[in-house]
Amino acid sequence: MAERIAEEKINEIRQSVDIVEVISEYVQLKKQGRNYFGLCPFHGENSPSFSVSPDKQIFHCFGCGAGGNVFSFLMDLEGYSFIETAIKLAEKANIELAIDPSNLGKEKKVSDDVLQMIEAHELLRKFYHHLLVNTKEGQHALEYLLERGFTLESIKKFQIGYSLNSWDFVTKFLLKRNFTAEILERSGLIIRRESDNSLFDRFRNRIMFPISDRHGKTIAFSGRALGQDEPKYLNSPETVIFNKSKILYNFHLAKPTIRKTSQIVLFEGFADVIAADRAEVENGVATMGTSLTEDHVSQLRQLVQSVTICYDSDNAGIEAAYRAGNMLTNVGLLVKVAMMPNGLDPDDYVKQFGAEKFQNEVMGSTVTWMSFKFLYFRRGKNLQNEGERLLYIEEVLKEISKLTKAVERDHYLRQLAGEFSLSLDALKQQQKQVFYYEKNKNQQGQLTPNKPTVVTKKSVKSLYPAYQTAERRLIAHMIRNSEVAYKVQELLNGHTFNVDEHQAIMTYLIGYYEEGNPPDPSAFLNYIKDDKLKRIVAELEMMSINSEMTPQELNDYLKQVLNFPKLLMIKEKNAEKIEAEKQKDFLKAATIAMEILQLQKALK
Ligand code: UTP
Ligand code: MN
Repeated sequence: MAERIAEEKINEIRQSVDIVEVISEYVQLKKQGRNYFGLCPFHGENSPSFSVSPDKQIFHCFGCGAGGNVFSFLMDLEGYSFIETAIKLAEKANIELAIDPSNLGKEKKVSDDVLQMIEAHELLRKFYHHLLVNTKEGQHALEYLLERGFTLESIKKFQIGYSLNSWDFVTKFLLKRNFTAEILERSGLIIRRESDNSLFDRFRNRIMFPISDRHGKTIAFSGRALGQDEPKYLNSPETVIFNKSKILYNFHLAKPTIRKTSQIVLFEGFADVIAADRAEVENGVATMGTSLTEDHVSQLRQLVQSVTICYDSDNAGIEAAYRAGNMLTNVGLLVKVAMMPNGLDPDDYVKQFGAEKFQNEVMGSTVTWMSFKFLYFRRGKNLQNEGERLLYIEEVLKEISKLTKAVERDHYLRQLAGEFSLSLDALKQQQKQVFYYEKNKNQQGQLTPNKPTVVTKKSVKSLYPAYQTAERRLIAHMIRNSEVAYKVQELLNGHTFNVDEHQAIMTYLIGYYEEGNPPDPSAFLNYIKDDKLKRIVAELEMMSINSEMTPQELNDYLKQVLNFPKLLMIKEKNAEKIEAEKQKDFLKAATIAMEILQLQKALK
């Protein structure tokens, strides 16, 4: 791979970008000692086990084992190829790359297709927007939007457009611009009729909402019917550039405000995001008509500590808010819920009551997640009825029992006691019972779902048998010091490490040094081509070890490494011996006993 961009260029890029800066665009990092820590973007977690070392220019996650340098980070997270990553980073560092496109081969073809699909979407976005704002054909659509309360300003900001009432306008428009039918079909913009293989436009006579990726490039559309046509919203299908379970509408435009306020507002629909924006709530995002996914949650988690849910106030909206709130609190986010009067959605509300009232009485009067749950359990219950009231109290006590702070529990217990004129002491008693009941239930059952088993640093360490720990420590030193590497190679004297991956790393490392490269954690990572090995190397590079290894330490580790195969053999022989005794083959048993003795003598 690296042949296509000269090795020196890659090194130049590597040395000019700072891994902390690059990763900070995706993960909130906090400095702790020499390293930075944050929530791992490669797996869901509550407490930060993702670390970045500015000195070594590498990252490593103690939780899931992900690790590498700035190249592997972008390749793994964005799905870029090596070349694409080099191009991105070179741009960032203002380094001129002279790449001959004819050399790029197949890899380039894949990203070329992606670029073309995005290009087609970008072109259409501009065209649809032009039709809506400037032409007679789009006039009725514009009137519809203005009538609904959309302003020209937000129509421009969100690049809203209109698709003509034609079966083939877009097809012809794009084919004429040299896009192939295959690309257009794969991009979801046109559809092939099965009956006669002819092509037609997916979006016809609809208000077009462009959907952008996190860099602001248009990657899909959602088209709203003007009248009562079904479906109300027609979305682009899933394509290589559009993944509904990952995309959040308006993420790109909202990001600066999200960063500034450390807050995100989650809406159900595009119209709501746009209406809220009109009311100066500019940190709103929405899912693509699907429910919130773990992927979305993890994106939000990386940006903020607190999320406000502002869903429709109808039944479906309240159920969806309950589900979303649980997912968000499960990963440790603070959740607030903004509510509107019966049945309205945020867009209706802004239109009916205006921006100021939306700011003050909806966004400015959020309830805590616990209070929302109180309201949630209350729905559909007649609290005058004793049985329903007791059921309600029980459900609420169960929720209160999940709170870890005594002050918080006390607060809600008082609220509950006050509301139903109950004795606070009695309530506290009952809450304790509920707590122990739930705790026992969970211990008897399997692991609580949603809570990933947390792999602590300690438990990872203790998982390794002695010989493995020895090999890991040796490699950790060898990566930092070429003398040690050669020394270990010499002392192994033709023997190998017991773990295949360790041996492979050793082979790479000696090769790396023999080419005259100095010890450099990040550079060595680029030298290794295998992902699994890269992760192990990053982990070992992050391992804290003494800067010098004493001869005693070196000896102890080597002893572990060299003895292990013999110990293994002794174990096997012992089993054979017992088997021979069982068969009453005492001669064989005696021979094996001799062999065992020899092996034991050979132990260092
Ligand atoms: P809603 O039905 O609540 O629509 O769907 P809305 O946001 O209030 O839109 P208006 O005000 O009627 O124009 C919420 C979201 O669900 C998705 C869309 O993403 C929409 O924004 N949806 C809805 C679809 O994908 N397809 C549909 O047919 C309807
Ligand atoms: Mn609406």
